[in-house]
Amino acid sequence: MARRRQPAPSAVLVAAESFIRQFARELPVSGAPERRLREVRASIESTGTYEHTPEELAFGARVAWRNAARCIGRLYWRSLVVRDLRRLRHPDDIAEQCVEHLRVATNGGRIRPVISVFAPDRPGRPAARLLGEQLVRYADDPRSAKRTALARELGWKGGKEEFDILPLLVQAAPDRPAEFYELPDDAVLEVPLTHPQHAGFACLGLRWYAVPAVSDMTLEIGGVVYPAAPFNGWYMGTEIGSRNLGDTDRYDLLPTVARLFELDTGSDRSLWRDRALVEVNLAVLHSFQEAGVTMADHHTESARFLAHIERERRCGRPVPADWSWIVPPLSGSATPVFHRSFAPPDDALRPALLRRGEDPWAGCGAN
Ligand code: ARG
Repeated sequence: MARRRQPAPSAVLVAAESFIRQFARELPVSGAPERRLREVRASIESTGTYEHTPEELAFGARVAWRNAARCIGRLYWRSLVVRDLRRLRHPDDIAEQCVEHLRVATNGGRIRPVISVFAPDRPGRPAARLLGEQLVRYADDPRSAKRTALARELGWKGGKEEFDILPLLVQAAPDRPAEFYELPDDAVLEVPLTHPQHAGFACLGLRWYAVPAVSDMTLEIGGVVYPAAPFNGWYMGTEIGSRNLGDTDRYDLLPTVARLFELDTGSDRSLWRDRALVEVNLAVLHSFQEAGVTMADHHTESARFLAHIERERRCGRPVPADWSWIVPPLSGSATPVFHRSFAPPDDALRPALLRRGEDPWAGCGAN
């Protein structure tokens, strides 16, 4: 019987060596890398892969954040809490620890940036995947239509009300059905949206969750692929106020808000969309503040990002950044990031958090 060809160890080896050397360079206390390199090489030669030490994992995850060209919030990359859950590969355990992730990250409202790293892919043995885009998502968000449909196919009965929270979707292997796990209420902090001046805003019944925890990206460190590695920071207000609630293919609320504020929607030139955007963004920032939940405004976060660039410059490192993602989707030119350019993003940079295609199992080597 023909055995499936394993991926050539050389690609893993090259990536591993480069990572082990980077680790030793940036954390000189760890000592010279020669011994560790020998160990890693031997492991790759005999098994096709190797295991990171907990310190390598933590460093790799933090640098993956540092390398994320679309993220404006990277000033705090060093403080990322790394939960080493590599021993877990069963969907039940993964779901349980995703719930715990939300509790640790929520921290009573003082949001902590956290990543939970589950089992990596091994040659010929892909690890479990989280199918949802984030740990917390709403079933009636048009962006989640596919996941909502999948959850229902699997037997989920929820999603009948507005802002119903989707269950976690975990799949152990490409040839196994996905499992769904309802999130316990007390693991998901949500903020009802009110406006500081307009009492009627509360009657719109809007809300959003506190912790944006991305769960459909792959963490890649030194040639090792961690397909289940949900991570979160805190929200910047515009993500919710401009995009999630404002985009026409999301909650599309600008016309509703314009009506509430009695704006003239008859003419584009009344700038009713612009004014409605400001009101929603104001409501989001105000509500999170009132609820005691960490959230940044786009002016503060832009200034922090420039401080990050300056700090990295002093370490001799460029900060690759995607201008079109860094500039906030409200009052772009009123923030300093609008008026400058950045080092171009580099797709080859590792460690990295990589976007996954439509098929979560593509390229895992098991098909
Ligand atoms: N933009 C996404 C959302 O609105 C979240 C992406 C991550 N954002 C963050 N602040 N860490 O849900």
